[in-house]
Amino acid sequence: MIYFDNSATTKVHPEVMKTFVAVNEKFWANPASIHEFGHQTNELLQSARKQVAEILHTSPNKIYFTSGGTESNNLAIFGLANKYKTRGRHVLVSEIEHPSILEAAKQLMKNGFEVEWIPVNSDGIIVIDAVKKLLRTDTILVSVMHVNNETGAIQPIQEISAYVRQNSRAVIHMDAVQSFGKLPVHFGALDVDAITISSHKIHGLKGSGLLALKQFMEVEPMLFGGGQESGIRSGTTPVPLAVSTAKAVRLAHDNLQENAKTMKEITENLIPFLTSFPSIKLISPTNRASHIVSFSVRKIKGEVLINALQQKNVIVSTSSACSSRQTTTSHVLKAMHIQDDYIKGVIRLSFSAINTQEEINQFKKIFTNVMKVIKGD
Ligand SMILES: Cc1ncc(COP(=O)(O)O)c(C=O)c1O
Repeated sequence: MIYFDNSATTKVHPEVMKTFVAVNEKFWANPASIHEFGHQTNELLQSARKQVAEILHTSPNKIYFTSGGTESNNLAIFGLANKYKTRGRHVLVSEIEHPSILEAAKQLMKNGFEVEWIPVNSDGIIVIDAVKKLLRTDTILVSVMHVNNETGAIQPIQEISAYVRQNSRAVIHMDAVQSFGKLPVHFGALDVDAITISSHKIHGLKGSGLLALKQFMEVEPMLFGGGQESGIRSGTTPVPLAVSTAKAVRLAHDNLQENAKTMKEITENLIPFLTSFPSIKLISPTNRASHIVSFSVRKIKGEVLINALQQKNVIVSTSSACSSRQTTTSHVLKAMHIQDDYIKGVIRLSFSAINTQEEINQFKKIFTNVMKVIKGD
């Protein structure tokens, strides 16, 4: 199988799997228990938290382990808006966010917040003028993703945060689910207040991830109960998942340069090939993260191409895994105003560093044959 759907999920790294099994076998106590076994398990949890905090340049008590990107994004939207609502009720969210941000923001509107949507240009990138038009002195939260999951477009986070800092007291949340491990992501590199990471997008385990806050930032809890995770996320902390998350984060961080180079070389081999077909339009902009290439074949439905490739054991997806089973058109492609001839045919190829040039060369042969059958190009 050639698997080019790494933005949907990645294969678990053997080291992460080893960690998960070992922690389950040896440290399965409740980390809140006061006996020695609980204490040892808690030590392990705290060292995982410390490792992640060092990588993200914050303090350990600002790392909250969660069930993944969706929960972290919900916690950021509700938790930050509620924490800072005495300053105002205005929230800005980009139009191209993942549904776990968009839908949470729609819920905020029902709770008396005023949400406005930051538009993007035809490359799927936020233009700073749009932020300038929308930001107000009573804006309390701005949520912008680092890399878009459908196109790979890199958003101008530094430029946005510089403007927001100068002109408001708003806190800034960044969904880094698609950028962590591909671009430098930490509070030292990017002037944001909260960062979402999902483990299964970086060769970690599904159902785990984290929300990180910058030092001195605060968030209101969403889950109430025993007060675990500094009172922010009640429920017995799943130590094996948390420690595996730390492992995946460390591997992605330590191998960033090498992995990014591999993915860049892969996509540099692929893009000229794809654009040599007259009926293909590249959807990903030039300023994209190296692991995502999305394109469209004119007047061909994405599903047709996906099925044809699947028959040859090549796994790709439509623009996002979440929307791929829905018949509605992607909100990201709509926001980019992709023309009708192309909008239904968008295919996303997404890579990880375990993909190889050999796979790309095989893909080229298979794709050329598929195109002959479906299009005659
Ligand atoms: C940009 C982005 N944010 C959030 C999520 C949700 O992450 P999870 O699957 O861990 O809930 C995804 C998953 O596709 C994503 O691509």
